[in-house]
Amino acid sequence: MDFVGSHILSVSQFDRAAIERVFEVADEMQPFANRQKVTRVLEGAILGNMFFEPSTRTRVSFGCAWNLLGGEVRETTEVKTSAIAKGESFYDTARVLSGYSDMIVMRHQIEGSVDEFASASRVPVINGGDGSNEHPSQALLDLYTIKKEMAGRGKGVDGLRIALIGDLRYGRAVHSLCRLLSLYDKVHFTLISPEELGLGAEYIDEIRMAGHEVVQSTDMATGISHADILYVTRTQEERFPTQEEADRYKGLFRLNQTVYTENCEPNTVIMHPLPRDSRGDANELDNDLNENPNLAIFRQTDNGVHIRMALFALILDVADQVNQTARDVNWYTAKRF
Ligand code: NCD
Repeated sequence: MDFVGSHILSVSQFDRAAIERVFEVADEMQPFANRQKVTRVLEGAILGNMFFEPSTRTRVSFGCAWNLLGGEVRETTEVKTSAIAKGESFYDTARVLSGYSDMIVMRHQIEGSVDEFASASRVPVINGGDGSNEHPSQALLDLYTIKKEMAGRGKGVDGLRIALIGDLRYGRAVHSLCRLLSLYDKVHFTLISPEELGLGAEYIDEIRMAGHEVVQSTDMATGISHADILYVTRTQEERFPTQEEADRYKGLFRLNQTVYTENCEPNTVIMHPLPRDSRGDANELDNDLNENPNLAIFRQTDNGVHIRMALFALILDVADQVNQTARDVNWYTAKRF
């Protein structure tokens, strides 16, 4: 895969060598992301961070990743504050914004919208999530996290046993992650969801065609019992035709310390793309797991910065220059990493 100048629209663009290259550069970003060193390699460059759907960590971590490389960020965070609300097409918006920026990250609720936008953009575009379709940077940071967590347990991604839990139908992070994991060998997928929210047949076919085992279940307790990784997800309420319909699936699968202790092997890793829905009637991932050392959710969010810095550096062809302008930070840095 040639990163330079490329759009990142789907994880289908990646092979294992490309993933390894992203992870190698992500590792090199650690001193910058961890506030030990500063680099100015993207000084003067502008990121258009276009989020037409709610986002906290994806939007802010893309922005921070660009800032940490020395660039400036311009942001649009709602349809109603952009000219799309006046009927402007993705084509026109992309033509215009690509004249103002060196790269664009875009999130929008319509599947395929980011592809359409990218086809008119004159600068590289990264898909920050298009409806229930894909979320490539999330899947890369999830896989990066899985790899690190498994390495800490003396294992790799090949042979991984993963249980994906919750709304697998609308969850774009799940879709992209399943595709990436399919590039590895002999992964065992346990798909735990209400029947109506099961992973789409096209994704299951892809996984099976790649030689992996897939088990579907509506019973969380048995489904999580032989997994290395639990990947818990939120019901994607905003994708349902009505709130009433979404409410039917609230609270059906809840992971808490008791369920974990009773059913999981010791050291089973707990992941979630976040946000977790912490309202009482949902609560798919309980706060009582917060002190469990196997809870990797905040390691995932930290890793997101490294991965996004790596994507920017590779696409703009500065991965080998990051250290040229590096210096130590000269402010007090809290010990948070
Ligand atoms: C996910 C998303 O937006 O698809 N969040 C994220 O980007 N970390 C998952 C979700 O919203 O449930």
